Amino acid sequence: MIPYKHEPFKDYTLEENRQKVAEGFDLVKSYLGQEYPLIIDGKRVKSDEELSRSYNPADKDETIGHVHQAGQKEADKAMEAAKKAFESWRKYSFEYRSDVLFKAAEIIRKRRFEFVAHLGKEAGKPWKEADVEVAEAIDFLEYYGRQNLTLKDGQHVESRPGEYNQFDYIPLGVGFVISPWNFSFAIMAGTTVAAMVAGNTVLLKPSSRTPIIAYKFIEVLEEAGMPNGVVNYIPGSSRNIGDYLVEHKDTAFVSFTGSRDVGVRIYEKAAIVQEGQLNLKRVIAEMGGKDTIVVDSDADLELAADAIVQSAFGFTGQKCSACSRVIALEDIHDELLERVVAKTKELSVGNPETDIYMGPVIDQSSLDKIEKYIEIGKEEGKLEVGGTIDNEVGHFAYPTVFSGLKHNDRVMQEEIFGPVVGFATAKTFDQAIEFANDTDYGLTGAVITKSRDHIEQARRDFHVGNLYFNRGCTAAIVGYQPFGGFKMSGTDSKAGGPDYLLLHMQGKTTSEMF
Ligand code: SER
Repeated sequence: MIPYKHEPFKDYTLEENRQKVAEGFDLVKSYLGQEYPLIIDGKRVKSDEELSRSYNPADKDETIGHVHQAGQKEADKAMEAAKKAFESWRKYSFEYRSDVLFKAAEIIRKRRFEFVAHLGKEAGKPWKEADVEVAEAIDFLEYYGRQNLTLKDGQHVESRPGEYNQFDYIPLGVGFVISPWNFSFAIMAGTTVAAMVAGNTVLLKPSSRTPIIAYKFIEVLEEAGMPNGVVNYIPGSSRNIGDYLVEHKDTAFVSFTGSRDVGVRIYEKAAIVQEGQLNLKRVIAEMGGKDTIVVDSDADLELAADAIVQSAFGFTGQKCSACSRVIALEDIHDELLERVVAKTKELSVGNPETDIYMGPVIDQSSLDKIEKYIEIGKEEGKLEVGGTIDNEVGHFAYPTVFSGLKHNDRVMQEEIFGPVVGFATAKTFDQAIEFANDTDYGLTGAVITKSRDHIEQARRDFHVGNLYFNRGCTAAIVGYQPFGGFKMSGTDSKAGGPDYLLLHMQGKTTSEMF
């Protein structure tokens, strides 16, 4: 087998690729406005619930499609289908299950520009970011497919004379996967296939903001040879089916990516053993972040400014890994801020159907939240650039920088999930690390410095799941930078890492005597 290597990114300065992405948009436009049923046991199922409209956040009037919603009746049906499929899927060979992933990766490669365009339309994601996301989806398939094969023979255990011991990995059962809108393709695909390749079956509830890309992904898995019932597509509201399936006695595990509030709620609910339940539920939770870039006195300030701007405003700041706090050493603060402000002013904002840097934010409530924090930021610090929104045609928030903040001000503590970054200063590097750690979260962070001592100090003391030196704090690559956080950022379930599939499996020891 060819060793794993991450999927290369496309260069969108090349006319050839610009042409292909335009063709991708034409294709996506040709299927706008269609109706999407649920997929249960491979069958297309319509529900009686009111359809949900998926729309383009850059152009609110443009409908991506109308999506059937699962209620408890459909959730029960999907659970039955997943339980039934589990009994055969768990017996498929590791090779077959991995091959479904490898074939799916190849199908996505062929449809790459369509998926880039789809993310532009349904999630408001600019080309370059969308391309990185499609590459990440391919990476999850290639990486977990390979990782699964390494687990095929379990692990070696010792045997005494007259004894044969074996240690194997077996799946858990039916997993409930709740995926987010901000990586509506990569994280949705990654969490789903990690569960299924390990031999589990899946109930997939994609984000209600971006359900259609998930429907397209199920079609890809079907084409790649996934049997019916292995992944069931059940978009629906948290109120109707979210809690219901988290609490369901037959749910073996929940894999959730989303906000801290919802993650904590799931963690609590899953802990309660229901009548008739035969397994303690596992919860894999990837939640929020409040991620800091520390800039040291000796830092390359041009590099630092680029790292901050990219990490704060890439995909409009809507990444749990996004930089929303800068802690700058006092002596370089003013020059750094000046550079960041100048670079921020150059960013283009618009509809991702054209090649722009920043698209819209995902919806009205997101925009409202950003607006609220812009007001709080004006009270707590000084607005340097941005601070405006435009909700006429789409949900646009302009890249915003605040200075003069204290590290424990609200805009420096609470997750905004938008293009807002705050600056605070520290007197010493020790204090910078102390301020960086002083949040409820522990997802990503970066340190820009030339000091070897400070790099080693941060490696030891900066308490985040993903720490980067002399670069930004976003854009982890599957198989290179396993991704997941400490504290209120989640269960540190390192997606794209060497231990990830094991979270979806249990070990079985067999011992035979002769
Ligand atoms: N994995 C993404 C990043 O590193 C966030 O989910 O930016």
